[in-house]
Amino acid sequence: MTPRKIIIDTDPGQDDAFAILLALGSPEDVDVLGITAVAGNVPLNWTERNARIVCELAGRADIKVYAGCDRPLKRKLVTAEHVHGKTGLDGPVMVEPTMALQPGHAVDFIIDTLRREPAGTVTLCPLGPLTNIATAFQKAPDVVERIQQIVLMGGGCFEGGNITPVAEFNIFVDPEAADIVFRAGVPLVVMPLDVTHKALTTKARVAAFRALGTNVGRVAAEWADFFERFDKEKYGSEGAPLHDPCVIAWLIRPELFTGRRVNVTVEVQSELTMGQTVTDWWGVTDRAPNALFMGGIDADGFFALLTERLGRL
Ligand code: BDR
Ligand code: CA
Repeated sequence: MTPRKIIIDTDPGQDDAFAILLALGSPEDVDVLGITAVAGNVPLNWTERNARIVCELAGRADIKVYAGCDRPLKRKLVTAEHVHGKTGLDGPVMVEPTMALQPGHAVDFIIDTLRREPAGTVTLCPLGPLTNIATAFQKAPDVVERIQQIVLMGGGCFEGGNITPVAEFNIFVDPEAADIVFRAGVPLVVMPLDVTHKALTTKARVAAFRALGTNVGRVAAEWADFFERFDKEKYGSEGAPLHDPCVIAWLIRPELFTGRRVNVTVEVQSELTMGQTVTDWWGVTDRAPNALFMGGIDADGFFALLTERLGRL
């Protein structure tokens, strides 16, 4: 099968870095047309740098990396240095990237790519706040129907939130952008906290990264070690959730996941529940399903896939 063409929209973030590496280690499954950075976990000047660092780590300085929106549509940026460290990629010492940032804005790259490629052949993979995607939709409504699918990490249902009691970080940071994307009518696949909180690192899983004996394996293990300290304390679990690579894993091995088609609506009014993904899991409204909302994951299968693909880099 020909690899699926994707654009990764991201705010790296150690778990975003795992997602990018998983994609770059899977060329027979996904063809990364470009990476678009957005402000989220850390400000944009870090996220675009981090995206380039990860490409170089993977030996793929040829990947096009663009900088996008530096703040949410209507709100002040909320960041997550308390989870990811000051740079967003804290943990191992990383060398500064030498590959250039592409000229032009990430939003224009998304628009131009969707207009250039045959309709229905490009999938967007947002791993951060949805600001770049929503801005593209506002600027060029014609591209919306040309998207094959959006497969995103964000939201939560039974699992609640991770930045407020009910809101997940990516949706909370830019709820207005998320609202635009969830209402756009594009086929959506959502990887919420309900899934990603089951994709936990463990001593054995991190040891498997290290046992690859490669630079990528070492860096991955050191990222996991750093990333874990916050979540272990917060959740009392053995490890930390690797949220974002679930998106890429679904593209490669969808059978690792289970979910249902439901309606998901984003809260944009109430300050108390801002950014909640109101998910009609039980079908108690007449709102039409707009997303395949995942709920289950074969975590061992997921980590086996991730480790194998990291091992190729
Ligand atoms: C999401 O927020 C970020 O901290 C992670 O990179 C992930 O995309 C999890 O809520
Ligand atoms: Ca992210």
